[in-house]
Formats: sequence, C-alpha cells, structure tokens
Amino acid sequence: VNKSVAIVGASGYTGTELQRLLAQHAHLEATLLMRSRAARTDESGSTGVQPLDPARFEEVHGVFLCTPHGAASELAAAAVAAGKPVVDLSADFRLRDPKLFASTYGQEHRAPDLLRRAVYGLTEHNREAIAKATLVANPGCYPTSILLPLLPLLQQGLLDDTAPLIADSKSGVSGAGKQPNERTHFGNVHDNFLAYGIGTHRHAPEISQELGRAVVFTPHLLPTFRGILSTIYVTPSNGNRAETVRNCLHERYRSEPFVKVYQTGAPELHDVQRSNQCHISVHDSGPVVVIVSAIDNLVKGASGQALQNMNLLLGYDETEGLT
Ligand SMILES: NC(=O)c1ccc[n+]([C@@H]2O[C@H](COP(=O)([O-])OP(=O)(O)OC[C@H]3O[C@@H](n4cnc5c(N)ncnc54)[C@H](OP(=O)(O)O)[C@@H]3O)[C@@H](O)[C@H]2O)c1
Repeated sequence: VNKSVAIVGASGYTGTELQRLLAQHAHLEATLLMRSRAARTDESGSTGVQPLDPARFEEVHGVFLCTPHGAASELAAAAVAAGKPVVDLSADFRLRDPKLFASTYGQEHRAPDLLRRAVYGLTEHNREAIAKATLVANPGCYPTSILLPLLPLLQQGLLDDTAPLIADSKSGVSGAGKQPNERTHFGNVHDNFLAYGIGTHRHAPEISQELGRAVVFTPHLLPTFRGILSTIYVTPSNGNRAETVRNCLHERYRSEPFVKVYQTGAPELHDVQRSNQCHISVHDSGPVVVIVSAIDNLVKGASGQALQNMNLLLGYDETEGLT
C-alpha cells in the first residue's frame, strides 16, 4: 500500500535529507513540501516547495515537522486535529515537563496538552509506544549519540552512580541548520575548532531526562558538514572493565539493524555518514571506560530516525527507505 507524507521545512537541511531518504522508500512518497516563506523557483522551474498551509495536512497520511522549535507546536496540533500521525524533529515535544521546556528554550510551551501525548522517539528503546503514538518527539542529534550507548548500561546497573557521566561531543556544522550565524559561518568554522554551550547546552536536560541522572555534556563544533562523534567517559560499578560494558551493548543491540558495536577499533565519521547507523566502541583507559559513538546528525540524529519512526506509525517495516 502506498501512502503520502508532508514535509514542513522542506527547504532546510533535515527536510532536504528526508526527501533524499523518501526517494528510496518503496511505499511512502513526499507529496506535500512546504516552507515558511513564499516558494522560490530555481533555473529548472519550481522547486516544488510550497508556502506553509496546515489546512493541507488533510491531503496526506503523515506529517514530518522539520521546523524550528517553537514553530512546531501549533503545526503538530493542526496535524493531530486532522487525524494525521506526526514526527516532530524539533525540540518542542522532547521535554515532558512544560516548565523545563520554558526554562530551557526561553518560551512558554504552546501546546502543553499535546505534550502529554507525545512519545520520545529513540526508536531502539521505545518502538512499541512509538507504533501506537500519534505524535513522536524525534530525539536531538547529540542525545541520540549519547543515549544509545548509555541507556543499556544504566538499565543493567553497570555504572557507578556516584561517578559523573561525561560526554564530550563533536558535531559537524549542519547540526545548526542552514542559516549561518557568527559562530557557524564558514569564516569561523573553517580551520578552527571550538567548544560551545559548556554547561548550558539545551540538549543536556533532554539527555538527563532520558537517563534519569545528570550528565556533563560539552558540545564542540567540527569544521565538517555532517556527523557527530561523542567520546563518553564512564566508571563501571563493581570494578567492571570495558569487556563487560562492550558485551552488554553487544547483547542489547545484536539484532538491531542500525546499531553496531565494535569488537576492535573505534568508529569514525566516515563509517556512518549518510547512513542511519550508530557505531559504538568501548575501551579501557586508566581508571575509566571510554565509549566512542558516531552517527550522522542528519540521518540517525534527525531525518533517518524520523523515517524509522514514521515507518512504525504507518505500519511499514522500520528499515524501509533506510538501508
Ligand atoms: N540539523 C540537524 O542536524 C538537526 C538534528 C536534529 C534535529 N534538528 C531539528 O530539526 C529542525 C529543523 O532543522 P534544520 O537543521 O533542518 O533547520 P533549517 O535548515 O534551518 O530549516 C528550517 C526549515 O523550517 C522552515 N521554517 C522556518 N520557520 C518556520 C515557521 N515559523 N513555520 C514553518 N516553517 C518554518 C524553513 O523554511 P524557509 O526556508 O522558508 O525559511 C526551513 O524549511 C529544528 O528544530 C532542529 O533543531 C536538526
């Protein structure tokens, strides 16, 4: 059975990536592409991207919101009112507590009732709830790279809960979207490397919410376009070392198509770019265990995981369009 979807924010980085993925999907077609501003034409004529019109959600079977946080709430409400399942790639429905949303994002939540119905879309850990949901909050890019390796370890009680969890993450510049600013402009990114949002980044509350404990999270900006590599420092409980941690992750993810746990070596961005994969390695290092986790921020960190979730919402094989 073929179904159609809308992409709101089709002129942005994640919206464009979603179109690339949907072009390989056997059953889903992006028939409605919308952006916030008036449609532009290119040299070959229309780009097919139309001005925003939520009334047109009626025309499709599902809606992807690839729009900035704040803007997504009302669009999600319109789609849900039209009876259409939604995957929201923004942060609007990720934090369960509307007060935490307000303090983190500097604005009141615009759809607190709908927030209660949202399901956090880390597919490998929540697929049953996702399949039954109407609104999926697609996880942040950095959180995806950190939660996939850490959640099984916490669930198995393998980490010392008195030692800090430290995630040192590096992202390509596409993580910031298509609109350049002083920090993400080519002139500042090229031939440079920097840490930002130290102790204040908006993804820290999201990671802590899902882990159920605090995390030291420091993001960095790489002079590349796509990819996130997180280096995570943990202290195992009961004197356990890397081998136990690796075995736990290997067991948890052995039948998962999009998570790979290395037996030797460490993942690089080249191993995951343009794929929906998260690659993980585990190493002993002095008193701690170091975990390296790599994803493509635009795929497993955004549009790929969003499609994985939409596949579940619409009853397709989760891997459709993604392998
Ligand atoms: N980039 C990543 O790696 C990544 C990863 C995970 C999650 N996300 C999240 O996904 C969302 C989209 O990110 P992006 O990187 O694709 O952003 P982007 O490149 O800046 O694109 C934003 C898109 O949203 C449209 N838009 C802007 N304001 C709007 C409004 N008020 N109503 C409707 N549409 C509006 C834009 O249309 P115009 O072109 O007409 O302005 C554009 O199509 C953001 O919430 C972001 O935080 C991004």
